[in-house]
Amino acid sequence: MRVMVACEFSGTVRDAFIARGHDAHSCDLLPSESDAGPHFQQDIREIPLESYDLLIAHPPCTHLAVSGARWFKEKVTEQEEALDFVRWILAAPVPRIALENPISIISSRIRKPDQIIQPYQFGHGETKATCLWLKHLPPLFPTRLVDGREARVHRMPPGPDRWKERSRTFAGIAEAMADQWGNLDTQKPGDQTRLCAPLIG
Ligand SMILES: C[S@@+](CC[C@H](N)C(=O)[O-])C[C@H]1O[C@@H](n2cnc3c(N)ncnc32)[C@H](O)[C@@H]1O
Repeated sequence: MRVMVACEFSGTVRDAFIARGHDAHSCDLLPSESDAGPHFQQDIREIPLESYDLLIAHPPCTHLAVSGARWFKEKVTEQEEALDFVRWILAAPVPRIALENPISIISSRIRKPDQIIQPYQFGHGETKATCLWLKHLPPLFPTRLVDGREARVHRMPPGPDRWKERSRTFAGIAEAMADQWGNLDTQKPGDQTRLCAPLIG
């Protein structure tokens, strides 16, 4: 399967797909932290995507996350641009698409997510509500429910790299994506069986 992971500097999702034998690439304005696979350091909108089977995108949430609602009035233009970027991703010419973001105004301005997952459903004892907007993909089913409901991101000390620590994809979620979405290659989009009920809330 040819996979493009957009807006990923960590290589976490890309490398999970590569480890399972897929032809996975990542793209970010930043260099990749992992040299285990191919990375395009450029705007994802400059890359022809027609040859890919799956696009997984983690667009910036800075102007979209509901946690920053008190600043919304001051950043109307940035917000519109961020929403346009999300619309562009969801309309990309790729048969299967997953877009990931925290609880955000994408829900009210574009559409509600198909699923909300938590790291503690995938082996990490933390809370961080993560929304998934899915096109021709089944919702992820939890792989390992663990105890621990710590909101680690809120306790991170300030610093230039804090946003990176907060935004890096959890390995357990990346592995679930690669295990569960990497084997859909032989099914036609639209012909899939839902693997479980969507986890909303
Ligand atoms: C919230 S972070 C996602 C990080 C990701 N979860 C990971 O593990 O690497 C959003 C990323 O989108 C990248 N980005 C923003 N605009 C982009 C664009 N037009 N094309 C590609 N990447 C972009 C940023 O540089 C940033 O690294």
